[in-house]
Amino acid sequence: MSTIKTAITRLLGIKTPIVLAPMGGASGGALASEVSLAGGFGFLSPAYTGVDKFRDEFHIARSILNRPSGPLPIGAGFLGWKLEEERSPHVALLELALENGVQAIWLSFGEDLGRWIDLVRNHDQKSGKTPSTLIFVQVNTVEEALIAFKNWKVDVLVAQGIESGGHGSASAPPVFNLVPQILSALSALPSSGAPPPVLAAGGLSSGAHLSAFLTLGAAGAVVGTRFLVAEECQYSDVQKRAIIAAKSSSAVRSYVFDKLRDTTGWPAGVNGRALAMPAVEAVESGADIAKVKEEVAEGAKRGDPSSSITWAGTGVGPLYRLQPAKDIVRELHDAAVAYLKASSALLGDA
Ligand SMILES: Cc1cc2nc3c(=O)[nH]c(=O)nc-3n(C[C@H](O)[C@H](O)[C@H](O)COP(=O)(O)O)c2cc1C
Repeated sequence: MSTIKTAITRLLGIKTPIVLAPMGGASGGALASEVSLAGGFGFLSPAYTGVDKFRDEFHIARSILNRPSGPLPIGAGFLGWKLEEERSPHVALLELALENGVQAIWLSFGEDLGRWIDLVRNHDQKSGKTPSTLIFVQVNTVEEALIAFKNWKVDVLVAQGIESGGHGSASAPPVFNLVPQILSALSALPSSGAPPPVLAAGGLSSGAHLSAFLTLGAAGAVVGTRFLVAEECQYSDVQKRAIIAAKSSSAVRSYVFDKLRDTTGWPAGVNGRALAMPAVEAVESGADIAKVKEEVAEGAKRGDPSSSITWAGTGVGPLYRLQPAKDIVRELHDAAVAYLKASSALLGDA
């Protein structure tokens, strides 16, 4: 196997610069561990689970990774705004992840992410954890990237473009614009220490995408939607079938998805990308939301796929079959290696 060595593979001690996104309702202990076992790095998400369910996910991960105790080569992702709610039950989930010795914590979409970074670092200090827990922060603008680097000294920046599945800034630039802008802003800073590796996120579902971003200077790719067709993904069968049937144009951004399921409360300007639904179109064209919500609830009870919200990014088109996660990692890696070799063959001496 040819290896791809970047700042992220060295930092995490992994074989290929492919990072599974923490995806609420999709990335559990099984998916995260299989991605790490395959040579990438997996994040699990507790977004919609309680402490008991999250503890179960760690048991699953420990069993797959064959690590009954001690630190784990996976990470856990947290939504800042959920942690920031009054008496938030999510803080206990973050503490559970730290007690389990995750290698990295991922934070996104909060007003006060610095507070949670301090919590992680204090936990490391008190417990004497070495190496310390790596901090990943997902950003949508150059300004956010600079704050994360300068104020919080994060270990990894994830640059999330508008193409991303799930939640993100409604005004994020395309990832192809965002990544070079962040890299250039970091390199223009007067020497304030080595900048962190930057990972590209959003719509990246093939080895061609991975190799293109490595060539641009990213240290790797965060991949979400591509893993929604992993056998280990927690998506329901209805959602997985919808992903397989979807076309590239099927994944649309809207604030209405959250309104339909009463999960509003995201920071201003954050909406979500999911497969288009007649209910979303109806509300956007002025239909009464209360009535549409009732219809969606009824449809969901009947198992009607058009009533189920299926978060997905613009890379959803070419996903045609379920596969073990490890095969997806291998496919992405091998194709990226082939593209990198082909592009280096373009170079020649004058
Ligand atoms: C089903 C789903 C759930 C997601 N949940 C989260 C989450 O809980 N926290 C988070 O920071 N990002 C979440 N995201 C966004 C990812 O972190 C990442 O930016 C995105 O998956 C990258 O784009 P892609 O899906 O096109 O690969 C989610 C994405 C999807 C598709």
